[in-house]
Amino acid sequence: MKILVLNGPNLNLLGKRERQHYGSLSLPAIEKQLKKLGRELGVQLEFFQSNFEGALVEKIQNARDKADGILINPAAYTHTSIALRDALAAVEIPFVEVHLSNLAKREEFRKRSLLSDLALGVISGFGPASYFLGLRALAEFLKKS
Ligand code: DQA
Repeated sequence: MKILVLNGPNLNLLGKRERQHYGSLSLPAIEKQLKKLGRELGVQLEFFQSNFEGALVEKIQNARDKADGILINPAAYTHTSIALRDALAAVEIPFVEVHLSNLAKREEFRKRSLLSDLALGVISGFGPASYFLGLRALAEFLKKS
């Protein structure tokens, strides 16, 4: 079973960026832990981060017939990107949306996600554990379906 783990803009700066919201773990450190969890769950992971909307859209398009599921932190594109929404809808790959911070506690503009209603579910506010919980939930869903 293959899961694509996508990260949007500025998440390459994790560990250095607004630690009060996003914590001190770097993205490679989170990916290392995800890889370990992936092995335990028996799923194969591919990682991709980009600061470019089109690059993320292309990665999603190319995942058609290749990935069984997508774990995505769309970062700021959560709130703005109809293009990401359309790409996820087009490929029809089940996905889980994750956020390090609790979006419900933050600025008004972060409370709206253009992707959530297409997602299997959303996990927000648990720091890096949002990714681990999201991966577990996605793997469990895929094993049942
Ligand atoms: C984020 C929340 C977004 O609003 C923000 O733009 C991010 C990170 C999170 O993981 O909490 O870059 O997706």
